Amino acid sequence: MSHLLAREGTWRQLREYFVHRSIYHLKEADPHVWVVPRLRGRAKAALVAVEFDEYGGGHGERMHSQLFADLLEAAGLSPDYLHYLDVAAGEQLAIVNLMSMFGLHRGLRGALVGHFAAAEITTAPSAARLVTALRRHAAPEPCVHFFAEHVEADAVHEQIMRRDVVGGLLEDEPDLAADVAFGIEATDLLEGRLAERLLGAWRGGRTSLVPVEH
Ligand SMILES: [Fe+2]
Ligand SMILES: [Fe+2]
Repeated sequence: MSHLLAREGTWRQLREYFVHRSIYHLKEADPHVWVVPRLRGRAKAALVAVEFDEYGGGHGERMHSQLFADLLEAAGLSPDYLHYLDVAAGEQLAIVNLMSMFGLHRGLRGALVGHFAAAEITTAPSAARLVTALRRHAAPEPCVHFFAEHVEADAVHEQIMRRDVVGGLLEDEPDLAADVAFGIEATDLLEGRLAERLLGAWRGGRTSLVPVEH
């Protein structure tokens, strides 16, 4: 999606992208907190360090969920949590449900770590493409800022996730390797489905939003 948006995305498509992503980004990092008591040692400490950044490093106005709310407002959209639940793609809801399910079950802690690692590792390059797309449209600064912030933050988060969270977890509990891989692959599968839906709609000149019956 980010490749198409960077190359030829319209402002309307970018706003639709924000609408789908709002289901997660307005509560960014929350589902991953559930795994904290289910981890130990190095993996736990490192995951909390990443989460500290997601929550703005002690500054409410810098929380990534707040940055996304600012982005929505700047784009003329509602910053209210779940405001777009009815029009967001089911494929997007599935991604958020996956995070919640992984986070809420101790037996799926390896999958949650795999999911979180996959997300952090893929974010920086795709965020950079979104910056390109938004600058092309001279988008309001808060829209650019959310993604620019992720280019920088996730370059660091990627290293911590690889080395200390996944590395630490598997050193401590090597039997969880298959679960970590499952979390990565499940994320990839669901992100692929969302991309298919959005790209299919856009290539056909249609909206990717779900029609609402009144
Ligand atoms: Fe973030
Ligand atoms: Fe991050």
